[in-house]
Amino acid sequence: MKIDGTHYRSIWFDASDHSVKIIDQTRLPHFFDVLSLTCLDDVCHAIRTMQVRGAPLIGAAAAFGLYLSVKEGNLPPEEAGKLLLATRPTAVNLQWAIARMLDRISEESNSEAKNRTALATAQAICEEDVSNCTSIGLHGVGLVKEIAKAKAGPVNILTHCNAGWLATVDRGTAMAPVYQAWEEGIEVHVWVDETRPRNQGASITAWELGKQAIPHTVISDNTGGHLMQSGQVDLCLVGSDRTTYRGNVCNKIGTYLKALAACDNDVPFYVAVSVSSIDWDSDEIPIEERHSGEITSIQGLNSQGILDTVRLTPEGSAALNYAFDITPSRLVSGLITEKGIFSADEPGLARLRGLLNTD
Ligand code: MRU
Repeated sequence: MKIDGTHYRSIWFDASDHSVKIIDQTRLPHFFDVLSLTCLDDVCHAIRTMQVRGAPLIGAAAAFGLYLSVKEGNLPPEEAGKLLLATRPTAVNLQWAIARMLDRISEESNSEAKNRTALATAQAICEEDVSNCTSIGLHGVGLVKEIAKAKAGPVNILTHCNAGWLATVDRGTAMAPVYQAWEEGIEVHVWVDETRPRNQGASITAWELGKQAIPHTVISDNTGGHLMQSGQVDLCLVGSDRTTYRGNVCNKIGTYLKALAACDNDVPFYVAVSVSSIDWDSDEIPIEERHSGEITSIQGLNSQGILDTVRLTPEGSAALNYAFDITPSRLVSGLITEKGIFSADEPGLARLRGLLNTD
C-alpha cells in the first residue's frame, strides 16, 4: 500500500545487505520505523513482541527467519523451525510456512543450494500472499457492491483488529474488499473497533485506512452492538488466524461477540481468510494467553511526543489476557477466500479443498 506516495510492503528482502526489512508495528501510528532483521533471533523477537503480527505476515516473517538461520548455518533447520513455532501459538500460518520451508530446504543437499532455495521459497510465500489478498479483494467486493446498489450513502463496514495490509504482506484480507471497493468508486465507511488490549484497530487499521484516505471512525469495542441495533452497520468483515476444516473461525478476542450481535440483528458477518490460515487437520485451536500487563497498562504518545506506558488498573488487581476467541461456524455468513466465497462448514471447506487439489 502507499504511504505518503511511496509503496511499501509490510515485509521485504533487502538484497543490498541481505537483511529482511519490516515496519515496526509496535510504534504505529505515531512513528514509522523500518527495522532490519539479520538473524533468526531477530525474527523470533519481532514475532514474539508483535513488531510483526497478523497471521499471514507472521507466516512470511517465519519463512524469512528460516532463510536467515540457514544463511547463519548455526542450527539445523528443524531446530530453527521449533524456535519460530514457539513464538506465537494461534496463527496456523506459522506452522504452514515453516513446514513448507523445511520441505523445500530438505530437498537440497549442499548449503549453498539450501540457502538459495530458502530465500526463493520465502519470497514465493510473500508473492503468493499478495496475489491471494488481491483475489480476496476481487471476490469480496461483490458483497459490498450488492449492498451499495440497495441503499443510498456509504456502505458501513465494521471490522475488528487489523486484517489489513499490515497483517499480511500487502493489501490485507478483510480490508482487501474495502480497498477494492474504494478503488472502484464505491462509497464506503469503516467502523474500526479499537481492539483492546493492544489496540490494533485504533492504532494500525485506523492508520492504514487514513493513509489510503478511506473514511473511517474508531469506536470502542463495546459500541458495535448498539450500531448494529440502530441500523448503522451493513456488513461485518473480519480476518482469521486459524479457520478449521469445520468452519469455526479463530480471530482476535472480541470477534465472537461481534458475530453474536451481527446474528441477532441480521447483519451479514463475513470472514476473509487466505487458504494458508485454514487448518485442514484439526478442530482444536490453541488460544494464546498473553501477559496481563497488556490489560493493566496502556501505551500511547505522551505530551512530550514520547511513546509511554501508563497503568490503568489498581495495583494488585488480577487481569486475564486471552488474545483470541472462536466464532462458531453457525454465526459466519461465509468465508471469502482467494478461490471465491464458501460456506463456513465442512461441505464448503471440502469444496474449497477440492479446488486446491486441482490447481
Ligand atoms: O494478535 P495479532 O495482532 O497478530 O492478531 C491479528 C488478528 O487477529 C487478525 O485479525 C488476523 O491475523 C487477521 S488475518 C489478516
